[in-house]
Amino acid sequence: MTERLLRGRSLSFRREPLGPADTEACDWQEDGGLWLRDGLIVASGPYAEVAALAGPVPVTDHRPHLIVPGFIDAHLHFPQGQIVASWGAQLLDWLDTYTFPAEARFADPAHGARMACAFHDLLLMIGTTTASAFCSVHPASVDAYFTEGARRGMRMLGGKVLMDRNAPVGLLDTPQSAYDDTEALIARWHGKGRALYALSPRFAITSTPAQMEAAGALAAAHPDCHVQTHLSENPDEIALACSLFPEADGYLDIYARHGLLGPRTLLGHAIHLNDRERARIAETGSHPVHCPTSNLFLGSGLFDEAALKAAGATSGIATDIGAGMSWSMLRTAGAAYAIAQLKGRQLDPLRALWWITRGNADVLGLTDRIGTLDPGTEADLVVLDSRATPELALRMDAAQDLKDEVFALLVLGDDRAVAETYVNGIPSKPRP
Ligand code: GUN
Ligand code: ZN
Repeated sequence: MTERLLRGRSLSFRREPLGPADTEACDWQEDGGLWLRDGLIVASGPYAEVAALAGPVPVTDHRPHLIVPGFIDAHLHFPQGQIVASWGAQLLDWLDTYTFPAEARFADPAHGARMACAFHDLLLMIGTTTASAFCSVHPASVDAYFTEGARRGMRMLGGKVLMDRNAPVGLLDTPQSAYDDTEALIARWHGKGRALYALSPRFAITSTPAQMEAAGALAAAHPDCHVQTHLSENPDEIALACSLFPEADGYLDIYARHGLLGPRTLLGHAIHLNDRERARIAETGSHPVHCPTSNLFLGSGLFDEAALKAAGATSGIATDIGAGMSWSMLRTAGAAYAIAQLKGRQLDPLRALWWITRGNADVLGLTDRIGTLDPGTEADLVVLDSRATPELALRMDAAQDLKDEVFALLVLGDDRAVAETYVNGIPSKPRP
C-alpha cells in the first residue's frame, strides 16, 4: 500500500463556472489537504480535517503552490512530436509535406518505442496526465503508445488511424485490415489497466466509403470505445471531403451517415460549421474539440465555442500536437482566451482552468475517474508554481486574487510552472 498526504493551496471544480462571480463552482482551499492511497484520492478538503482523518501518513508540503487536477488533452497526434513548428503550409500541404513522412517512420517499431518515451515524458513535464491521441496507421505504434502509458500508470486514450486513400502507399491500410487490426488492438488494450481505445478514422479524405462503413461497424460493435476524427478544419479540406462523398449533405453528414456521431465522439477542430451542423452535433451529443494554437498555426480559422454552446454542444480543448504550437494545456487555454477575444468574448480564467481539467473529463465521459480532486477518483494531480519564472514572479507581485494568478499561469505558464505531476498518486514529473 502506498499512501501520502499532500498539503497545498488546492483548487478543483464542482461544475462549469457560469461566470466570473460563480465561486460556488469552485472547490478552493487556501490550506488544502489530499490523502492519496493506492492511486486514488481518499479524502480532500481543509488540511486540518484531512490530516486528522489520515493519521500518521507521510506528508509532502507543496505550499505555497497550487494543487489542481491533472490536465487533460482531448486531441493530439502521438507520431507528430517531431514536426511541431514545421514552416509554411496550411492543412492539406502540411499533411503531405511534413505529417505523412513523419508518420511513415512509425513502420519501425523501435522508432515508435523511442518516440513513445519522449511523448509521455513531455506530457508529464507540462502537467498532462490524460490524453486522447491518434497513433499512426501501424498497429505497432498503438502498442508502443499504450505500453509506455501503462509503464507510467497513466490513463490514456488512443487508437490506430484508419486511412486507405489519399496518402503515401506505406501509410495505407484497407477496409478489412483496418477492421481486423482495430479489433485486435481493442482486445489487447481497451480497459487494460488505465488504457481506453479510441476508434480513429483520420478524416473523410483519407477513408474510402468502404472504410467509413468499416469504421461505423466498429463503432456499433464497441459502443464503449470513443471515436475520434477531424471535421471542418480548413476550406480546401471541406471542399475535397464533400467532393469525395457527393451523396452526403455536407461534411458532418459523412460521419453521421456512417454511424460515427454520439456522446463518445470527439470532432477535432469543427471550425467552419453552419447552424444545422451545430444543432446536429448537439443532438447527437458529439463533442467538438477546440485546438486553438493549431488553428492559428495552420491558419485554419477561429473556433466559435459560444455558438456551439448556444446550440447545446459541449466542446473539449486540446493541443493538436504536431500542428499545435505548444504541448502545454496552460498555454492552450491562454490561446483559447485570445481566440475568444477575436470573437468579441472573454474566456473567464477559472472557466479556462475548469475546461482543461473537469471540462475535458466531462467531454470524455470520465469525470467519475479523472478531472477533479474528489474522493474516490484517480490521483492524477498537478502542482503549479505561480512564481516559477522571472516573468511569472514579476506578474505575481501585482496579482490581485486567485483568478488573476490562474490567468497569469494560463498565459505565461509552461513546464517550468509545473512543480510536480502526480500520476496514480505517484510523483512522476520527469527531471531532465
Ligand atoms: N486532419 C487530418 N489529419 C490531421 C492531422 O494530423 N492534423 C490536423 N491538424 N488535421 C488533420
Ligand atoms: Zn488532429
